[in-house]
Amino acid sequence: MKVIKKLKITAILFLLFIFSSTILAETAVEGGDDLGSLIKIMVALTAFLVAIIMWLILVYSEKSEAAEASGFSKFMSMINSRPPIDEEQNLLLDHDYDGIKELNNKIPPWFMAIFYGSILWAAVYMVNFHILGSGNVQEDEYAEAVQIASMEREILNRSGALVNEETVTILDNAAALASGKDTYVKNCAACHGMNGEGLVGPNFTDDYWIHGNKVNDLFKTIKYGVPQKGMISWQAQLDPTQMQEVASYILTLRGTNPANQKAPEGELYKYE
Ligand code: HEC
Repeated sequence: MKVIKKLKITAILFLLFIFSSTILAETAVEGGDDLGSLIKIMVALTAFLVAIIMWLILVYSEKSEAAEASGFSKFMSMINSRPPIDEEQNLLLDHDYDGIKELNNKIPPWFMAIFYGSILWAAVYMVNFHILGSGNVQEDEYAEAVQIASMEREILNRSGALVNEETVTILDNAAALASGKDTYVKNCAACHGMNGEGLVGPNFTDDYWIHGNKVNDLFKTIKYGVPQKGMISWQAQLDPTQMQEVASYILTLRGTNPANQKAPEGELYKYE
């Protein structure tokens, strides 16, 4: 009977061990680039801990002549491994504090299981996070934080909190100007000409401006439009950054002297 029980438990332990080590191996191969791998490791380690606890139960249950009680009370007596009450006199330490006596009980298995379990946990944790580096939870957290921050930035940008007609500045980096040109060709060239020479809308290559020559002026005209004159408001279709880029692009067109220029409109602005 006892042998069968022992075999059973050993078999379970073996299965648990195989199970957890395959999960660990899988995790190491994958490189663990998501939180899923962390969960797998947790599951594996939990299985390990369960295995250890069962092993301790096995060891202690063989040592102690626990009464053949069943179920929960048996389990409790296994993990506590308390000696029977009539053996207490053997455990008495020979000191007496005002009638309070002390028993030399051994540390209960559940406590030792947690103790050794946490050592094992620490070892696996250390290998996984510091040596193999396969559990990169921190990097995942970082990536998530960056994503959230960029979403917040996007919201702020769209709301005009970052770039508006008061704060807008001229962008002069190639990427921004290329993006501005793209926006221009798609949305503005039909009225202002492919090269800014002017068509329905005014010429952007001369020194004359109807609404001002500063980037703030252009931004404001683009954002709110001049609906009664045929220049629509673009704020519903372009975000503030796009308006900033296209305004910056338009300002680079001055003096390019394209063919078929429209006659100047507005006032002459002085440029040094
Ligand atoms: C349907 C035609 C049309 C389209 C499309 C159009 N505009 Fe205009 N735009 C005009 C007209 C007409 C004016 C002149 C408004 C006025 O007389 O006040 C103008 C004026 C402007 C001005 C002010 C020029 C000045 O002299 O002060 C800017 C800047 C401008 N548009 C930028 C753009 C941008 C950028 C786009 C594309 C995103 C665009 N426009 C698309 C017709 C258009």
